[in-house]
Amino acid sequence: MATPNPGEPVKKKNVIKRMADSMSTQRIVIDLNYENFMSEKERMSLAKQLEFCYSSNRYSAQPFQLYFTSTVDIIVSERFVQTIPYWRSWDVFWKNENFMHLFKSEDLVYLTGDSPNILIDLDPKSVYIIGGLVDHNRHKGLTLRRAESCGIRHACLPIAEHLKLSSSKVLTVDQGTSCMKGESFGLKTVLYCFLVFKILVEFQNCNDWLGALLAVVPSRKLLRLNSGDHPTVETEKLA
Ligand SMILES: C[S@@+](CC[C@H](N)C(=O)[O-])C[C@H]1O[C@@H](n2cnc3c(N)ncnc32)[C@H](O)[C@@H]1O
Repeated sequence: MATPNPGEPVKKKNVIKRMADSMSTQRIVIDLNYENFMSEKERMSLAKQLEFCYSSNRYSAQPFQLYFTSTVDIIVSERFVQTIPYWRSWDVFWKNENFMHLFKSEDLVYLTGDSPNILIDLDPKSVYIIGGLVDHNRHKGLTLRRAESCGIRHACLPIAEHLKLSSSKVLTVDQGTSCMKGESFGLKTVLYCFLVFKILVEFQNCNDWLGALLAVVPSRKLLRLNSGDHPTVETEKLA
């Protein structure tokens, strides 16, 4: 094996941890109960996003306890399985059941960009749910209504509290895939589910929302710092 030259930093190998070896007991659910609300193309995009979520969890220093729930319809979809052929070997809790049958309802918090409640912190006893839905926000308020009909808590990420975004624009977080976009609707910012997951991973690592948001938004998207503390993010029109 090649040894580094004197003075050259030793490259750290990416450590891949299994959930069972993680010190994190934080449970995160991706709710896959939206099969009928997506086109075939959107389902494929969701499959890729699940792959991104899985991969960022595996590369996290302390992976979350990650659940994919209501999987029964989606994993019988042939195209879905073709998009992520190795899903069976993933270190994820695949559950056919709805999250209401798996956890205590008082522990559940549905994350949704439409909630008036702002997420302040991650509580290790709570279970945070992300909607496994790619819809370009065609179905406005769908996950908020789902949380309300289940009688569980809901919250949005503290984006507006930390980043200044223009309204009616798209916050593009393009890292080579068109699925990593967020759309800003007035004061509400609706992100793709992978981005929400990645922000939670980063927040768990640094315990700081601004740091977590900036880790996900590439620095080339930052135009300038305001006189206040909020970095302004370059926005682009939705293509
Ligand atoms: C593309 S969004 C789906 C938008 C959909 N119309 C809805 O009703 O939620 C995918 C998921 O990411 C999560 N999400 C998106 N933006 C969020 C935000 N600002 N705060 C918290 N969760 C968010 C929600 O769980 C949402 O279901």
